[in-house]
Amino acid sequence: MGNDPAFFSRFREARMKLAARMQRLGTETAFEVLARARALEREGRSIIHLEIGEPDFDTPVNVVAAGVEALQGGATHYTPSAGIDPLREAIALDQAQRKGLTVSPANVVVTPGGKPIMFYLMLALLDQGDEVVYPDPGFPIYESMVNFCGATGRPIGFVERERRFQWDVDSLVNQVGPRTKLIIVNTPSNPVGCTVSDADLQRIAEVARRHDAFVLSDEIYSRILYDGSFTSLATLPGMAERTCVLDGFSKTYAMTGWRLGYGIMPEWLAPQIARLATNCNSCNAAFTQLAGLEALTGSQDSVNAMVEEFRVRRDAIVAGLNALDGVRCSMPQGAFYVFANIEGTGMTSREAADYFLYEAGVAVLSGTSFGANGEGYIRLSYANSLDNLNLAVVRMATALASRRGVAAT
Ligand SMILES: Cc1ncc(COP(=O)(O)O)c(C=O)c1O
Repeated sequence: MGNDPAFFSRFREARMKLAARMQRLGTETAFEVLARARALEREGRSIIHLEIGEPDFDTPVNVVAAGVEALQGGATHYTPSAGIDPLREAIALDQAQRKGLTVSPANVVVTPGGKPIMFYLMLALLDQGDEVVYPDPGFPIYESMVNFCGATGRPIGFVERERRFQWDVDSLVNQVGPRTKLIIVNTPSNPVGCTVSDADLQRIAEVARRHDAFVLSDEIYSRILYDGSFTSLATLPGMAERTCVLDGFSKTYAMTGWRLGYGIMPEWLAPQIARLATNCNSCNAAFTQLAGLEALTGSQDSVNAMVEEFRVRRDAIVAGLNALDGVRCSMPQGAFYVFANIEGTGMTSREAADYFLYEAGVAVLSGTSFGANGEGYIRLSYANSLDNLNLAVVRMATALASRRGVAAT
């Protein structure tokens, strides 16, 4: 992950004119793989898209109707930077009912997607030399923003036992110390799909309190959960005052293109995050906020149906991948990704991702797109139809068999 040094050596202007911090800014490779896959499609190739992390479902019709009605009703003007009051109230109520958070509208800041919460929070909290603990493999923007802010990253890996991933909280506890300003927790996780157990959340909370560290709890996939119930770190004793919960509409309501998310944070922090928003995006589009209000207060049937469909697909793709020679795949507990081990194929992560794209017509991401610890793995998003997932597995099996054939000759 990280930035592209080749870019900076190719363009003299990039080296000379851009601020030094731009060399520390990373990116998300999913968009780059999508571009390569689309180029192959333009050449007439059939590609199955398992690279992009967005639900393939449509935004529920009641939500679309609310957005259209809002536009027709004149919701076309600026709104307060932290979001309109009815939406902040609905978010506070939803978080209280669903996760048991003690939250009032004053704790809520609405942003264009959940991502700006990461950006604004790290700009608001991190000084040069501060340390940040985050998952690796993890959402690439964590590391990108840590570096951009001049802080020092302390990546924490996962252990895979009996076909289940577990965040390595033993290492986390060892890494957190007096210089740790921020701990980033993501449950359920992108790209691994595992959840952090209640016992591990307790340990993380304990070490955060002990070292007076702040926590970013990325709960964007909290409703896409297959086993048990969701626990938010912010509900543990002493944690509400040191936690920013990130959540949003993109995944839960298939609203990635609407750009609507939010943070739940202590009252001293919310106006600071809103001030960053005032400096950057001013506010969120008014009609998307009204659509978000309908998403939270209207029927939740489509969310439940989507999760049930994801469960069927998860079971199918895990079984399919485990039947492939040289591939091993753990069972995720949430989100819509599998992180499959491909070491047995003899390829690196990057080679495997390229091989499956060019030889099998299946677009996947290299595990290293999510950090150095992702070597040996590829990530597949099962936000695609069951037929396409089954076809992807067949194509991958054929490509692996032909590779073995070539290797044998
Ligand atoms: C772990 C994680 N957090 C946050 C986000 C950001 O979502 P949004 O589209 O709402 O900005 C994503 C999107 O892929 C994600 O995977």
